[in-house]
Amino acid sequence: MSFPSGDRRRFKSRYRFCAEDAPSSRENRTSRRTCGGRCSAMQTLRWRVRPSPGHRCRHRRHAGERNAPPLGPVAVGVTDGARVLPHSFTLDRFSPVRFDAGHTVSNGVVDLLLEAARSAPSAGNSQPWAFIVGLRGDEVHERLVRHLARSSAMWAPGASLLVANLAHRFVEDSDIEYSEFAHYDVGQAVAHMTFQAHSMGLFVHQFRAFDREAVALEFRIPEHWEVTTMAAIGMPLGGGRGDPGPGTSDERYPLEEITWERAR
Ligand SMILES: Cc1cc2nc3c(=O)[nH]c(=O)nc-3n(C[C@H](O)[C@H](O)[C@H](O)COP(=O)(O)O)c2cc1C
Repeated sequence: MSFPSGDRRRFKSRYRFCAEDAPSSRENRTSRRTCGGRCSAMQTLRWRVRPSPGHRCRHRRHAGERNAPPLGPVAVGVTDGARVLPHSFTLDRFSPVRFDAGHTVSNGVVDLLLEAARSAPSAGNSQPWAFIVGLRGDEVHERLVRHLARSSAMWAPGASLLVANLAHRFVEDSDIEYSEFAHYDVGQAVAHMTFQAHSMGLFVHQFRAFDREAVALEFRIPEHWEVTTMAAIGMPLGGGRGDPGPGTSDERYPLEEITWERAR
């Protein structure tokens, strides 16, 4: 596949930025800055300092604001000119960087989360996933926490639950791939777990900031399995996303950027 004209994913400044991005309080200030790492060109961006509800910007949390005017082509979910919103999950969900360290979950809740992961689709129904589950305070949790990176150690231990997500990469004692979609499928299983958690009022922060090899050694994971990510699951502090903090962001590429081809 080739790019028809230049890099298809080049940053576009066609959509507006909102007040939270604005460098000063001057309305409609024109500012130059880099695109945030995706291309080296400097872009001229127009800052809209006082956003109306539902204004066009890259922040997902603004897309769902009520009484919003009809949105333009960058908006979340626009069908035939009528505004529709995706499931509230997609707007409400975020990866907390502060968890309520007093909140606990029961084993019943853990069963539901694993059940949701278990029922995810997978290539050829290969189900290339397994999970290490630690409830805050138990022995498995302690052993997982030992291997967190400095960054995740600042927030992940406070979550009610830590889950390490494993992928079945190879057929045992061989270098033959068990499934070429193992990572894809594990991600999907964790997404299902995330949906299930959300339906129970819990939030999930997936992360890779830990020593994956050390976790594999700690739990004697055989070589044909791979420790991929962890998920910290619990109740966020502060009642909402607030300041995303380092490591997370609610910015998203606009629809037009992620739609490779589409007939209109
Ligand atoms: C595979 C994967 C690895 C991630 N690794 C980290 C991480 O190491 N540290 C972190 O703070 N967040 C991590 N995240 C969370 C993302 O940064 C976060 O989902 C993204 O910034 C979007 O923010 P949101 O989930 O709040 O919408 C990871 C997410 C995924 C799916």
